[in-house]
Amino acid sequence: MRLSDFGPDFTWGVATAAYQIEGSPDADGKGPSIWDTFTHKRDWRGKTPVQDGTTGDVATDSYRRYPQDVELIKSLGFDAYRFSVAWSRIQPTGSGKVNQAGLDYYRRLVDTCLENGVEPWLTLFHWDLPQGLQDTGGWTNRETAHRFVDYTEIMAEALGDRVEHWMLFNEPLNIVISGHLVGAFAPGKRSFPAYFASLHHVNLATGWGSRALRAALPDADIGTTQYLTPPIGKGPGPLGDLAARSADAILNRAFVEPIIGMGYPWEEAGILKGVKAYMRDGDVEEMTADLDFLGIQYYTRLQAPFLPIPGLWTVPQFGGGAGGAETTSLGWEIMPEGLGMVIDAMHAYGKFPRLVVTEGGASFDDTVVDGRVHDPRRIAYYEDHIAQVAAARLRGIPVDGYFAWSLLDNFEWALGLVPRFGLVYTDYPTQDRIIKDSGYWFAEQLGGTARP
Ligand code: FCB
Repeated sequence: MRLSDFGPDFTWGVATAAYQIEGSPDADGKGPSIWDTFTHKRDWRGKTPVQDGTTGDVATDSYRRYPQDVELIKSLGFDAYRFSVAWSRIQPTGSGKVNQAGLDYYRRLVDTCLENGVEPWLTLFHWDLPQGLQDTGGWTNRETAHRFVDYTEIMAEALGDRVEHWMLFNEPLNIVISGHLVGAFAPGKRSFPAYFASLHHVNLATGWGSRALRAALPDADIGTTQYLTPPIGKGPGPLGDLAARSADAILNRAFVEPIIGMGYPWEEAGILKGVKAYMRDGDVEEMTADLDFLGIQYYTRLQAPFLPIPGLWTVPQFGGGAGGAETTSLGWEIMPEGLGMVIDAMHAYGKFPRLVVTEGGASFDDTVVDGRVHDPRRIAYYEDHIAQVAAARLRGIPVDGYFAWSLLDNFEWALGLVPRFGLVYTDYPTQDRIIKDSGYWFAEQLGGTARP
């Protein structure tokens, strides 16, 4: 398999997210986001919620180094760059007046992409909610979904003349489950009411936001992205199936089905009935989004052991592979077939005109040796996952893009700076960027100029 076999209409891109790369947390009038707050929190022992105690204050300094980053993308041969906008640069408190300097930054970034022949793919929300909106309840407050529509309209008006590809949300699962139920991510809530409320309001915002974008930009290519995992349960006989079905409902279906008009799958996971308290008449229609594509984000399969709790037959977790399957440096099982499985499952709904793999990648303990980073396992990871995309296309499924996570090593949320997902190595003390072998592998096949 060669990447060129995918033909000229297939999009090859790299992805990043604002908080993970930008730094400059209060430059040019930016307001604080919940990730600024979260990473600076200390408990009574002085510990932060981030494993290595780092923050995104500097990250890869891309707020200042974006021209260099875009040139890197071009030299690696990619034709698209998926980045996210920090809402609190645009509206420092999440509502009201627009901060022109923040908008200008993204306009410069987009223009730099276009000048370099790199198509901008813009994600509106990659987890960094303005703290001002968190102070009034964040995603547990239905009003936040209205504010998201305002922000969407501001962005459409400001950049709609030069950005064609838009994504509303990055992985609602992590906003809702990691942020509001498990508390491992900002805003660090741990409650069932916060879980149900945020689930419903993010789904509503997806429906409303999609229609606002469509009205403002009838010709735009509009999508949203989801974290997806193949439902594989563990347990004897039918109990394993029950665990799998409940995991599928909680992790995949509760996010995908509401936005295609199917409501919530509470028959498979009774616990989801908790969302009813936040629903109003007509919300099933309101959540239904107007989308051109679904962004599939796949890293690993989560394990779903059977638990004897009615309505909640499993609590899924990351885990090393069954039978000693290979894992990444984070212990995430490497299972390329899982990508084919989630592509098939999303296609089977018959509701998404196109699918795009908007994230996929792996962290390994990369090191620099004589100026080079040899990462053969990452190359193998990409080969095996991209082969799944090729196979899906042969089955007739319209999946027409693949974005590698990530352009460069960056701030990996609650895991800090230790995990390295980049095609490019970040030397944090100097901010030098060192292209890894995996980056050269893409460059050589995609016609980029970068060579060792
Ligand atoms: C995804 C996130 C992305 C990055 C990768 C490793 O879930 O969307 O920001 O953290 O995982």
